[in-house]
Amino acid sequence: MKANKIIAGAALVGAIALTATGCAGGGGAAAGGGGGGSDVITVGFAQTGSESGWRSANTESMKEAFSEANGFNLIFNAADNKPEAQIAAVRSFINQGVDAIVLAPIVTDGWDDVLKEAKDANIPVILEDRTVSASEDLYASWVGLDFKKEGETAGKWVADNFGSTPTNMVVLEGTTGSSAATDRAEGFNSAISGTDIKVLDSQTGNFTRAEGKTVMEGFLQKYGSQINLLFAHNDDMGLGALEAIKAAGLTPGTDIKIVTIDAVKDGMTALSKGEFNYIVECNPLLGEKAAEIVKKVVAGESVDKSYIVEDQAFDQEQAAKVLDSRPY
Ligand code: AHR
Repeated sequence: MKANKIIAGAALVGAIALTATGCAGGGGAAAGGGGGGSDVITVGFAQTGSESGWRSANTESMKEAFSEANGFNLIFNAADNKPEAQIAAVRSFINQGVDAIVLAPIVTDGWDDVLKEAKDANIPVILEDRTVSASEDLYASWVGLDFKKEGETAGKWVADNFGSTPTNMVVLEGTTGSSAATDRAEGFNSAISGTDIKVLDSQTGNFTRAEGKTVMEGFLQKYGSQINLLFAHNDDMGLGALEAIKAAGLTPGTDIKIVTIDAVKDGMTALSKGEFNYIVECNPLLGEKAAEIVKKVVAGESVDKSYIVEDQAFDQEQAAKVLDSRPY
């Protein structure tokens, strides 16, 4: 992506703070009839599904921002983590002639055709949360998180704390083919490279608590008390694993150290109780910025090609301090 701005995560609760690194043209006015100004803007939002606490907070933020009171008519679809259902939802938005489409892509690949169809229909597409591999000419803008940096931050903490002691790690990966999983893995692996941390096993838990638990049960059966460390690509999988660890008679946070990403309420509660050891935040409150981008694009105004929200990170002590004030 050529142009982008970095947004301070903490500021997303109210307003959004930005660091500009460039500027790109907007997606142009939509053909669907809204056209900005005081007209109601009809937006089709293709959400991934409802796989995690993070996703629930993101959906809530989007519904709040794309409200009637804010001048929107929102058509919401959650694709239950099925890429083909999400493509069908986008196609249906095109057929309905919406003014703009907002897409949180489940996976990176496979978007070229339907994004071309949207472009041909003169309907701008704004990405939120995850990214796609399709040409950036096919969408107007993106607002989301730096997943690679999230992985790097988690990996750096792990390397600093366990890197010089032989440590056996298992990994619960997010949805295979999603930018969140791919980029977090890349950032994490580069940060731990050259350390004494050995990856015993790494499998997907699809960002869900249930699959995190099942996969961790398998790891525990196979490797037992050899496991010293778990890196989970999100809190929910870490929370599922935590149940499996307790059921195996081990103490999470002590016998098996746990590092996750998201910082949703349940994850932060586990961290402040000493059951997790470190969490890198992934801020889900993207609605306000996404709505602002859509309004500008539909009005034919210029927007940046990408807006990156900055994340924080928490250890146990820091989590206990901020837990009550966390908005999600
Ligand atoms: O794309 C963001 C990721 O998707 C979050 O980390 C995870 O919880 C969600 O399902």
